[in-house]
Amino acid sequence: MEYTTLGRTGLKVSVIGLGCGGPSRIGQATGNSEEESIAIVRHGINSGINFIDTAEIYRTEKIVGKAIEGFKREDLVLSTKKSTWGTIRPDKVIKSFEKSLKNLGTDYVDIYHLHGVILQDYDSLYSEVVPSLLEIRDQGKIRFLGITERFNPDPDHSMLQRALQDDIWDVMMVGFNILNQSARERIFLSAMEKKIGILIMFAVRLALSRPKRLKQCIEELIQNKQINPSTIDKEDPLGFLIHDNGAENIVDAAYRFCHYEPGTHVILSGTGNLNHLKENINIMQKPPLPKKDVLKLKEIFKNVDSITGQ
Ligand SMILES: NC(=O)c1ccc[n+]([C@@H]2O[C@H](COP(=O)([O-])OP(=O)(O)OC[C@H]3O[C@@H](n4cnc5c(N)ncnc54)[C@H](OP(=O)(O)O)[C@@H]3O)[C@@H](O)[C@H]2O)c1
Repeated sequence: MEYTTLGRTGLKVSVIGLGCGGPSRIGQATGNSEEESIAIVRHGINSGINFIDTAEIYRTEKIVGKAIEGFKREDLVLSTKKSTWGTIRPDKVIKSFEKSLKNLGTDYVDIYHLHGVILQDYDSLYSEVVPSLLEIRDQGKIRFLGITERFNPDPDHSMLQRALQDDIWDVMMVGFNILNQSARERIFLSAMEKKIGILIMFAVRLALSRPKRLKQCIEELIQNKQINPSTIDKEDPLGFLIHDNGAENIVDAAYRFCHYEPGTHVILSGTGNLNHLKENINIMQKPPLPKKDVLKLKEIFKNVDSITGQ
């Protein structure tokens, strides 16, 4: 397993992180039993993954809590989140945080995020909720503060661009993938200067794991005039990536593309399927995609900031 330093947090983290939300919720959304989901988390840890991301809204914190029993707490980096949908009262934040601790069976969280923040809510969350988070951090129960974007309604990162102007966020979770690379210039450049730890979500999601969905996304991008149809084969849009010295399949290409993007630290992989987890761990040990393939991806999708690959 390859490890890296998560920006200014100094945390040593595996380059693949286990995402316990997304479309699979470690299998809780796709028919896994609790034992099967626990086995996925344990397999990840036994393979060297030390970064685990969950959230109160995923309803997987308790499963993570059970899965990590028996492992040394200090060997793991746990990330969880407070939802920001609707109105949040500061006292509710403290209650939610305490519940997350209990669910996870721990007395501290390495990274606690405000989850799915949109630009319209940012200023009020900053003035009304962040002081409570800082209080909990001062008590030693949160090590670092993070913020995550709500990528589907905010595919051009307007909230995170605003958040970059404040110096309190040690970690940001960003939507980035082959189809929407707009975070490269809008987020990563500035985050690298500020040494903010960057976690990637949506590396694969649906469009890069389901060929039919990929074709629909490409069609949409052609209609929006965000890609030039003459640069792409509509029937097999990313087929050029698969060749002897290139990627084995689109999922392989998608995770490797994100892994070697400058400024990214942990690529989150969300799966409820043990074989997929094994494949994804293996993918992250592979070298970068061939330079000419990466250049072609940058060229085709250089204007895209309207879709997420959902
Ligand atoms: N706003 C936020 O804060 C936010 C939003 C979204 C996600 N997240 C976090 O980011 C994590 C990653 O999210 P993501 O959904 O974007 O993850 P992802 O890893 O990009 O995509 C997950 C999807 O890809 C499929 N998949 C994974 N590996 C595969 C493989 N080898 N072959 C075929 N299909 C494969 C999964 O299905 P299978 O189960 O069948 O493998 C699932 O449908 C989440 O779990 C969550 O922790 C945060």
